[in-house]
Amino acid sequence: MPVSPDFTYDVVVVGGCGHVGLPLAVAFASRGLKVAIHDIDARAVELVSSGRLPFREDGAEEVLAKAIADDKLYVTTDANVLSEAEAVVVVIGTPVDEHLNPDPRAVKRALLSSMSHFRDGQLLVLRSTVYPGVTRGVEHMFEESGVNVDVAFCPERIAEGKAMEELFSLPQIVSGRTTRARDRAASLFKNLTDSTVELEPEEAELAKLFTNTWRYIKFAAANQFYIMANDHGLDFDKIRKALAYDYPRAADMPGAGLAAGPCLFKDTMQLAAFTDNSFQLGHAAMLVNEGLPLYIVSQLERTHDLSTKTVGILGMAFKGESDDIRSSLSYKLKRILEFRAGDVLCTDPYVTVDPTLKPLETVLEQSDILILAAPHRAYRDLVTDKPVADVWNFLGRGSTL
Ligand SMILES: NC(=O)c1ccc[n+]([C@@H]2O[C@H](COP(=O)([O-])OP(=O)(O)OC[C@H]3O[C@@H](n4cnc5c(N)ncnc54)[C@H](O)[C@@H]3O)[C@@H](O)[C@H]2O)c1
Repeated sequence: MPVSPDFTYDVVVVGGCGHVGLPLAVAFASRGLKVAIHDIDARAVELVSSGRLPFREDGAEEVLAKAIADDKLYVTTDANVLSEAEAVVVVIGTPVDEHLNPDPRAVKRALLSSMSHFRDGQLLVLRSTVYPGVTRGVEHMFEESGVNVDVAFCPERIAEGKAMEELFSLPQIVSGRTTRARDRAASLFKNLTDSTVELEPEEAELAKLFTNTWRYIKFAAANQFYIMANDHGLDFDKIRKALAYDYPRAADMPGAGLAAGPCLFKDTMQLAAFTDNSFQLGHAAMLVNEGLPLYIVSQLERTHDLSTKTVGILGMAFKGESDDIRSSLSYKLKRILEFRAGDVLCTDPYVTVDPTLKPLETVLEQSDILILAAPHRAYRDLVTDKPVADVWNFLGRGSTL
């Protein structure tokens, strides 16, 4: 698809150096689109401009390097680039605050500060996960400004680490108030996938929050079952595998484990705020998932005098094979152990942003007890004679504590 003569770029991704913005930008570039990234993080912009990823994302670095070399991707901190693209995709972070309140103004604030760069005829795609009603608010903002853009909301549903596969395989939810906005957004995403599903904007906003909350509740159910079984000296993972064996209705029951990260918890809390904090199931899921680190420590205290022991935490990222420590429960585990254990040592093969981490060998050697917090493949063949708490049953030695 050639770029419209009015524009230099087919698409600019705002927040395009982030965990979901960057894979999206390189995916578009890999399909031949002329793509720009605008991001306020100067360090990330420099890194990405040189063809390097600021974080782990399987299969993305080669595609990024090629896009830069082929002159298909331009990366800048200069917001002027917004006026040069036919489609502006916004995928900035939308975290909840320390009191678990969403910030429904985050996306509007970012757009307000770059309002002067928008031009008549552009397509604006909101892709951040938003509090319901944000799309409507953005539409109003543009109506009031007098700039005539088509606004669409097309939520991102990839899992970190699988973006370069899932961007091309997952159906794309497309929403827009007008047929033109929806059609333009659909044709943009048809560059990645033929499978699109249309919803009204308010439906699409809820679809994204329901998707993440559903997953979070499933993890909580498994973690609650784990605690029940474990309190009776029984191995949840053994029970789970037996009940799911050749039994499709239970095939989606997840294993137990630390359910964390930058999305599932905060999107469940966004939904809770949306229902005036009367989302009992969501809050219950939060208590179970966020409570698991404390449960693990309390269980270990029944058999070990932790106050005299050094505890080693294996894996500080929020999930296996990731280097992302945002909202990682490994750090909650660490904080609990800092006042309940003699000493705490932490390690992770991928995390690069925490200078306190130790090499795996040091942690294995100096710890009395180990806790497997993130199931990285590097731990699959762990050799140690120390006790290992492994609620995941990742090592295949049972999950009981
Ligand atoms: N991480 C995931 O797996 C995932 C999956 C699906 C959806 N989402 C949603 O996508 C959104 C982004 O998440 P993320 O994990 O990529 O966040 P992130 O923090 O990794 O990336 C956000 C990027 O936006 C940039 N940014 C912030 N404000 C900006 C502004 N005003 N102008 C330009 N750039 C700006 C930041 O510098 C950063 O590079 C969130 O709404 C999140 O809920 C995330």
